[in-house]
Amino acid sequence: MTERKDDRLWGGRFDRPPNEEFDAFQRSFAFDRRLLPYELAVDRAWARALQRAGILNEVEVRQTLGALDKIAERAKTDLAWLDSSAAEDVHHFVEKALVEFLGPLGWKLHTGRSRNELVATDFRLFVRDAATGTRSGVIVLIRAFLDQAKAHLKVPMAGMTHLQHAQPILLSHFLMAHAEAFARDLNRLHNAAASADVCPMGSGALAGCSFAIDREAIARELGFSRITANSLDAVSDRDFALDYLFALAGIATHLSRLAEDFVLFASQEFSYAILPDEYSTGSSLMPQKKNPDAWELLRGKTGRVTGALFSLFTTLKGLPSSYQRDLQEDKEALFSAHDQLASMVHVAAGAVSAMRFNEGKLAAASANPVLLATEATDYLVKKGVPFRQAHDLVGNLLREAERQAKPWTQLSLEDFRRISPAFDTDVANALQLAAALQSKNVPGGTSEDSVRAAISQLEQKLKSLENKP
Ligand code: ARG
Repeated sequence: MTERKDDRLWGGRFDRPPNEEFDAFQRSFAFDRRLLPYELAVDRAWARALQRAGILNEVEVRQTLGALDKIAERAKTDLAWLDSSAAEDVHHFVEKALVEFLGPLGWKLHTGRSRNELVATDFRLFVRDAATGTRSGVIVLIRAFLDQAKAHLKVPMAGMTHLQHAQPILLSHFLMAHAEAFARDLNRLHNAAASADVCPMGSGALAGCSFAIDREAIARELGFSRITANSLDAVSDRDFALDYLFALAGIATHLSRLAEDFVLFASQEFSYAILPDEYSTGSSLMPQKKNPDAWELLRGKTGRVTGALFSLFTTLKGLPSSYQRDLQEDKEALFSAHDQLASMVHVAAGAVSAMRFNEGKLAAASANPVLLATEATDYLVKKGVPFRQAHDLVGNLLREAERQAKPWTQLSLEDFRRISPAFDTDVANALQLAAALQSKNVPGGTSEDSVRAAISQLEQKLKSLENKP
């Protein structure tokens, strides 16, 4: 038989064509064409596997591989070919093209395999590359923080908890806090890539493959580290997509926190940061305005990325085992989250580099005496006062200062000693901003040395990642 009544992948048992509206509804080529390079790679590996299994002879394999190359070539240069295709999905597109180029030989390649495993394999390959690409973007972002931290190593600022002045920290420490969060995202991206790095080919529609297919060889050829262990699980599993979306949602959430910090810092009340023109916009009405739109959009777009994670979770919830057409919904959510996040990370890296800080304002805020209250408790503890009592005593000092309506660090030594005789003349030295910063000299602390060490450790980590991507 060299004729088929139509070129659908499944028309034989149907009397009537699909309802037009439903047909448009069920097609996925508009978005899964993005998987074409992966589909073609899988096709090449499958053609060779079929040869080893004795299904395709040498000539047929050569012709098939040649046609696959032609498809790849034409798809690159002739977008109209893809745009005008009536293919149902990317798998159908390739089969149609193979038949176009090869005639009935094009119908042989789908021997022993199913779109259910193909789509899972293509998608895994996409996610693996996507996670690696996102990682490079996040590394650029981290470098922007490292540069800013090095440029502002010694600038003090008022550290906050609950948005209330808490203890002094260095601006470089604040910047490195964000860098560390993004460094954890690198690990999550790495794990997501590893989770995608398993090859389903040979799983068939759900039951496996009855031809002598060398699954390990196919996996190797496609650069996968492992093969899936259960064919039914292999066509059902979208955990790798969830893992990647989770990693993306984590990055977006970190960007959103950063954005909120910078939006606050750029407000007139804080004035810690000066918005760069390049990453700000103005008002159509109010001439004075310079708004932190880059950061607001980064904060806002986070919703889409976390939304994609929940969208896929919701699709998967309640599905029975095996392939279900619901699974086709996985791709648009992930593609759009990936694209969105890629541009978010890129814009954020530029905006972080362009950010300028108002060191005078930061220093003025860091001079707020309340930031040193904890230093006074530490001072008393070192003089032998139990911590809780020291806490109470410093509280009493602060109350006394409020009563005298002056900054508590300007109370007289007599006032200090009336509250606790453990206070001595050396208390003045302990209650200095520089001393407070210097005293936080643990690894991970805000002393200048600790921050320097943190910077060099993170730089080392990035360097070692560059050596083994
Ligand atoms: N377009 C489908 C998807 O994205 C491919 C698999 C179709 N399989 C099927 N049995 N209808 O999931």
